[in-house]
Amino acid sequence: MSPKILVTGGAGYIGSHTVRQLAEAGYDVVVYDNLSTGSASAVIGGELIVASLENQALINKVFAQHGFDAVLHFAASLSVPESLAAPLNYYANNTRNTLNLLQACQTFGVKKFIFSSTAAVYGQPQVNPVTELSPTQPINPYGNSKLMSEKMIQDFAQASGCRYVILRYFNVAGADPTGKLGQSAKKAEHLIKVACDAALGRSPSVSIFGTDFATPDGSGIRDYIHVEDLASAHVDALHYLEAGNDSEIFNCGYGQGYSVREVLEMVKSISGVDFPVIEITRRPGDPACVIAGTDKIRSILAWQPRYNSLETIVTTALNWEKKLIALAALEKNLAQQNFQLGALLTEHKIISETELEQALQEQLLNGRKLGEILVQKAMISAQNLERFLLEQTWRRQGVWLQLPTAT
Ligand SMILES: NC(=O)c1ccc[n+]([C@@H]2O[C@H](COP(=O)([O-])OP(=O)(O)OC[C@H]3O[C@@H](n4cnc5c(N)ncnc54)[C@H](O)[C@@H]3O)[C@@H](O)[C@H]2O)c1
Repeated sequence: MSPKILVTGGAGYIGSHTVRQLAEAGYDVVVYDNLSTGSASAVIGGELIVASLENQALINKVFAQHGFDAVLHFAASLSVPESLAAPLNYYANNTRNTLNLLQACQTFGVKKFIFSSTAAVYGQPQVNPVTELSPTQPINPYGNSKLMSEKMIQDFAQASGCRYVILRYFNVAGADPTGKLGQSAKKAEHLIKVACDAALGRSPSVSIFGTDFATPDGSGIRDYIHVEDLASAHVDALHYLEAGNDSEIFNCGYGQGYSVREVLEMVKSISGVDFPVIEITRRPGDPACVIAGTDKIRSILAWQPRYNSLETIVTTALNWEKKLIALAALEKNLAQQNFQLGALLTEHKIISETELEQALQEQLLNGRKLGEILVQKAMISAQNLERFLLEQTWRRQGVWLQLPTAT
């Protein structure tokens, strides 16, 4: 039987890439996600339970039902500005809900735990590259909430014999190269996402916060890691724990930095769009340079990144954003078509308003075309449907001539 793995936040950006890789590696995956920023369609290869980690009783029920071999904990809130404005929400969703999860691990004897932490626990590092032994001094509630979770996991492990891997992610970007998964959260604030939006005309410009840092071009330098490589680090971490190894903390980055200007130039060059860039003052607390020391993860987990190139990161991110735009247009088009077809059919009294509503509800459930549903329910003949679809097209093109009323 395949090992059963719980993935909290598995409908989100990084979680969904990891779920797919775990499923491909033969694990039996259960995703626990409240879909606050994730989406059900991103869960490929796992069972989705839509629920919140606030609900201890429900968490316990899911643990009792499934008997998990390991837990991967991605679920969290992760906006630094939001955490400054509403810190208690961050301690609740990130710290307290991690406690809920650990409580279930204790009750049900789960002995392997993998946690999504962040470079934000290092605060403003004085020395680069940042190693796992660098001081942890978060400078915002988000970083604090994650560091507090780390401490709870460590203390719990010490007392219970549960072993953990804490992965501290640097700047995660890019998307699945096959185009099935990517960053979908509407509020995402990451530089590459924001630059892609500008390149695709969804925002007017990109701001550089600070051009007077002590870096070669004056803008901040960060270590960007492709989401597929980060996902594979989780599979490696799970193998590591399964092999009986000790608890560890690993940085996840490439050990290589790119400045904001370099990233923007790459997005411009790949998209072919010279979007406006506005230079403004530094944001409080933004360090000049943060680069991961990656010797530990490469040597102990034998992690082998496959997408270590800014060009690949930006290309996959841009392709994903294009896909999202095309999907949104398609959805809008479908909604318009439904509306028009529904209006036509009720106007001609082929179906009643109530029948239309029922058919639309069914469509929402099974995703089939409205016309197909009506034909299947014998509310309209296939021949008549064709005629109305034609009328719909003509009306849309503005060349509508009144057809004889269909029978
Ligand atoms: N994206 C980054 O650059 C980055 C960097 C460092 C660390 N991280 C960490 O990685 C993890 C995943 O981040 P992401 O970028 O995939 O974010 P995301 O918002 O796409 O995913 C988070 C998922 O958790 C779910 N969730 C949130 N609160 C929940 C709750 N109470 N109960 C159940 N589900 C809940 C959301 O619906 C979402 O699917 C987070 O823990 C984050 O702190 C992310």
